[in-house]
Amino acid sequence: MRFHVLTLFPQSFPGPLADSMVGMACHRGLISIEVTDIRSHTHDSHGTADDYQFGGGPGMVMKPEPIFEAVEAVLADLDLSERTGAGVVLLSPQGQVFNQKMAEDLANSSSLVLICGHYAGVDERVRQHLVTQEVSIGDFVLTGGELAAMVMIDTISRLVPGVVGSMDNVTQDSISSGLLQHPLYTRPAQFRDMAAPEILLSGHHAEIEKWRRHESLRRTLERRPGLLETAQLSPEDIEYLESLGYGRPKAQS
Ligand code: ADE
Repeated sequence: MRFHVLTLFPQSFPGPLADSMVGMACHRGLISIEVTDIRSHTHDSHGTADDYQFGGGPGMVMKPEPIFEAVEAVLADLDLSERTGAGVVLLSPQGQVFNQKMAEDLANSSSLVLICGHYAGVDERVRQHLVTQEVSIGDFVLTGGELAAMVMIDTISRLVPGVVGSMDNVTQDSISSGLLQHPLYTRPAQFRDMAAPEILLSGHHAEIEKWRRHESLRRTLERRPGLLETAQLSPEDIEYLESLGYGRPKAQS
């Protein structure tokens, strides 16, 4: 999987992506992260990549020409099959909100071009005629799309086969399974006055799996009840959730 990042701040990369599993995945050639300085596609002596907005108003707008040229240069470098499957993503707070499902869909592309918006935003013609998808990483405003691109690269990379040691870790993790993760414990079994749950030390695998499932269900009900609407639930899951009050109308306060 190849990521192509287009940014006015190329020195921000690879940043945290150089470390841990993503760094290792780059090293092993499972993924690549190529960074293009949008300013290198400007043609005036000042490298002007932004300008005042038509109609007046605060904040500068990223000009269309360098962004179009940078994307076209990246696409021209890809072979035909990669080019047709390449997604061109604009990072902006106006985009569709990123989630695990979107990451899974994007992980099927062989190449992803990520355009990092900055300043007040990008010229609308980029949005209308160049990008295939506009993505926000949440309902808050960053100073630019660079951190958002890193979040997307990190999330999508761990779905690429071989990046995370065991694929079980990816398919069973929080959210991918549709539920929040159960609590985790490691040694020591007794830490100060805090003991790990005995069931986890019992060696009864079926009982341990049941406990984990119950804890996932309980946590999801308490913290993110909306996820239960789309999670795959067995009749036993529903029975357990009902024992916790799931489905009952909330008490009026
Ligand atoms: N740029 C600024 N804020 C952003 C956000 N929330 N997501 C993606 N890109 C952004």
